[in-house]
Amino acid sequence: MTVAFIGHGYVGLVTASVFADLGNTVWVVGRTKEKIENLKKGTLPFYEPGLEELVKRNTKAGRLIFTLDYSEAVASSDIIFISVGTPPKENGAADLSSVFAAAEGIGKSLVGYKVVVTKSTVPPGTNRKVSEILVKHKPEGTSFAIASVPEFLREGTAIADTLHPDRVIIGTTSDRAQELLLEFHTPIDGEKVLCNVETAELIKYASNALLSTKISFANAISFLSEKVGADVEKVLEGVGLDHRIGRSFLYPGVGYGGSCFPKDVKALIAIASEHNYDFSLLKAVDDINKQAQALFTQKIIRHFHGALKNRQIAVLGLSFKPDTDDMREAPSISIIQALLTAGARIVAYDPVAIENARAVLPKVVAYAKDAYTAATGADAVVVVTEWNEFRQLDLVKLAKNLKSRVLFDGRNIYEPARVKALGFMYYGVGRM
Ligand SMILES: NC(=O)c1ccc[n+]([C@@H]2O[C@H](COP(=O)([O-])OP(=O)(O)OC[C@H]3O[C@@H](n4cnc5c(N)ncnc54)[C@H](O)[C@@H]3O)[C@@H](O)[C@H]2O)c1
Repeated sequence: MTVAFIGHGYVGLVTASVFADLGNTVWVVGRTKEKIENLKKGTLPFYEPGLEELVKRNTKAGRLIFTLDYSEAVASSDIIFISVGTPPKENGAADLSSVFAAAEGIGKSLVGYKVVVTKSTVPPGTNRKVSEILVKHKPEGTSFAIASVPEFLREGTAIADTLHPDRVIIGTTSDRAQELLLEFHTPIDGEKVLCNVETAELIKYASNALLSTKISFANAISFLSEKVGADVEKVLEGVGLDHRIGRSFLYPGVGYGGSCFPKDVKALIAIASEHNYDFSLLKAVDDINKQAQALFTQKIIRHFHGALKNRQIAVLGLSFKPDTDDMREAPSISIIQALLTAGARIVAYDPVAIENARAVLPKVVAYAKDAYTAATGADAVVVVTEWNEFRQLDLVKLAKNLKSRVLFDGRNIYEPARVKALGFMYYGVGRM
């Protein structure tokens, strides 16, 4: 099949590359000349494990074609996927301007019959608006059907997630579009859920909101664990062994970040509000997430009795989660900002996100080439992102480099007894 993706971010580029690798011809439409030229050469705009090789292989084979021009991409394709960003507006609602701009571009280039699919996360009702834009701009004699196929891939494991999702949601009222989309997704395992457009749109928000709720619940239990002298890890292990609950996403830490959870929780609150429903549960989820970052930072400041002037803090992990260079809404940003405000000097290290971090963190932050260098002469180490290389750190070597052996483990990746035995003062989340 020949298909097109509008947008080459984490969703567009990964999905396009995977489907090209499965033998389809895939057009990728961008809007920045430099990025499209780079992609043609195999230079990616972000880091995702395994993606560069996939892009290069399929570009060379002629199955992956990058362009700035909608017309040829749309005309050649049976299905056109809109996979552009939907960032939050000031009030938390999703900014749909890129989706509508893409719909206009597709509409103007429509030839014959096409299925236009929104992959971006969009509020219920958006696809109807996409349909109106297509009707407004399409040439006479052309026709289309709309569908919503929301994306669930996770950065860091995006290729495997695209090939082996838990489910594929296909939301459309057109039998022809449904048939074509089922055929296109044949090589993809995972249950196919067939529904109308609005249902598909809401499934995506409901999923992200519930995952965020689990994280905030785990964090709220961690706050309480510290007060009552419980070990949150054991509490959640005990809770999660109940098969009705399960353990996944019940992990405490410094809160969720990234381009999806914070924005989708806020967007669902805004969607509910537009329909006169006060989604107070999600407001609490959002509040608890902010508390998780604030309480962790307070712990560090309290350790130094509020006097962080001329204290050097080594921050390990900057990206919002491991295996990505994505800094969008990363907890490291607010934590570092608060430590700087308290007077600390920050030396940070991340395996891949330093370049992106420079663009969003204050200029005064210094960067090290590895964790041991970041820790050299530091008054404390703060682990913010649970990269595997931090789990495997040589803590004896780290301790030798430090000025004082103080470890703030924002992800509970170390065994407290082991760390304390090495002479560290250890602060985890929800446990002593
Ligand atoms: N990142 C994730 O893990 C993830 C997972 C599932 C769903 N989503 C959703 O998928 C959507 C895309 O997310 P992302 O992380 O890939 O975003 P992104 O910011 O990484 O990429 C967005 C892309 O859209 C392009 N774009 C914007 N307007 C365009 C236009 N008019 N024409 C052509 N290209 C245009 C941008 O240049 C960029 O390449 C969002 O709605 C997001 O919520 C993201």
